[in-house]
Amino acid sequence: MKDDKPVGASRRSFIASALAGGASLATAAGTRRAHAADDPLITETQDWNRYLGDGVDAAPYGMPSGFEADVVRRDVAWLTADPVSSVNFTPLYALDGIITPNGLCFERHHAGVALIDPADHRLMIHGLVDTPLVFTLADLKRFPRENRVYFLECAANSGMEWRGAQLNGCQFTHGMLHCVMYTGVPLRTLLDEAGVKTSGKWLLAEGADASAMTRSIPIEKAMDDCLVAFAMNGEALRAEQGYPIRLCVPGWEGNMWVKWLRRLEVGDQPWAQREETSKYTDLLENGIARRHTFQMDVKSVITSPSPQAPVAHGSGPLVITGLAWTGGGTIKRVDVSIDGGRNWRTARLDGPSLPKALHRFYLDIDWDGSELLLQSRAIDDAGYIQPTKDELRAARGVNSIYHNNGIQTWQVRQDGVVENVEVS
Ligand code: MTE
Ligand code: CO
Repeated sequence: MKDDKPVGASRRSFIASALAGGASLATAAGTRRAHAADDPLITETQDWNRYLGDGVDAAPYGMPSGFEADVVRRDVAWLTADPVSSVNFTPLYALDGIITPNGLCFERHHAGVALIDPADHRLMIHGLVDTPLVFTLADLKRFPRENRVYFLECAANSGMEWRGAQLNGCQFTHGMLHCVMYTGVPLRTLLDEAGVKTSGKWLLAEGADASAMTRSIPIEKAMDDCLVAFAMNGEALRAEQGYPIRLCVPGWEGNMWVKWLRRLEVGDQPWAQREETSKYTDLLENGIARRHTFQMDVKSVITSPSPQAPVAHGSGPLVITGLAWTGGGTIKRVDVSIDGGRNWRTARLDGPSLPKALHRFYLDIDWDGSELLLQSRAIDDAGYIQPTKDELRAARGVNSIYHNNGIQTWQVRQDGVVENVEVS
């Protein structure tokens, strides 16, 4: 920790000197002032000043500005054989704050999107319970509900990067991630309604899609903070995200967040044989597999600058920003390095710091235009420190796909172009 000084101070003094019109950095501001005088965008009437715009009914459901048409989910064509059992990625590089807009939440389906009329949907609770129950969506909406912000990360996020830098953009390296405010009924409330028998130790959650995906969840987790959600970011769930209801399993692997949730069976052991047993385990170098690695580890990534968000403006003030998260709780601190991990500065966390949600960080620097090796390192409130990729490989080998939470490096070249690289 050689360079620990708060960067706010240097930024403030930069602004002060720019305002005073003095010293080295005044050029950027001065150029902007000179242009204002003969800038046709200011001196001439533009189309949008001249013509009336669309009326209020042009878009009953609003869409982003057409100038943002590039900000979309994307897939990687060679990653999966067909689009039905596939994944696309959240455009993290273009987003700010901590909430993912509904239309940009990455999708992971094993058998495509189930289209279900909510009137035809049922949720059954059975197995080791006193009273088996069936709920309609209308039934669920009569229970006391809660609003909670959670990240969801697929266990395979960053899985392509185990053996080395591969995909050129945080959308692809880290974009199996979203963070949404869910509205729903605590799972505990529904299980209490059915009355879980003392022999009930595991819960099997099943989706109504064509894959009838099932996942086993320990009853302690089910009774702790799981939610049966029917709304995301204030509106009904999107079909892609499990409309009309999905299970939220906060801080744990995305695959457990069963979409189109139709059945919960209480049992006395996990239903491993019915699940894809080869999946969701981490194969170590010695041939032994880690199983039930449910919780997502502390992790972070710089979202801008990044390969899809190059530096377009040359040297001078540069906002470095990114996301940090942990399945264990909240993020206590994020450090950012501009020299490949030799020196670290404490980034500024801004916005709410909510447990099992994304955290937004910023480091505002004065870029001298030389090459940068950007890294971020998150530390959570349990004291876990995000490892380097080499540390992770030393512990886990390279047979894994899942749970890669290693430190990401972006190389910012002098021309502002950004590449996915590794340093050791
Ligand atoms: N639930 C059902 N019913 N079917 C699925 O294919 N995919 C799982 C999980 N829940 C899946 C599912 C996986 S692997 C992940 S990572 C998350 O949903 C993805 O959630 P999202 O599509 O809302 O991003
Ligand atoms: Co997944």
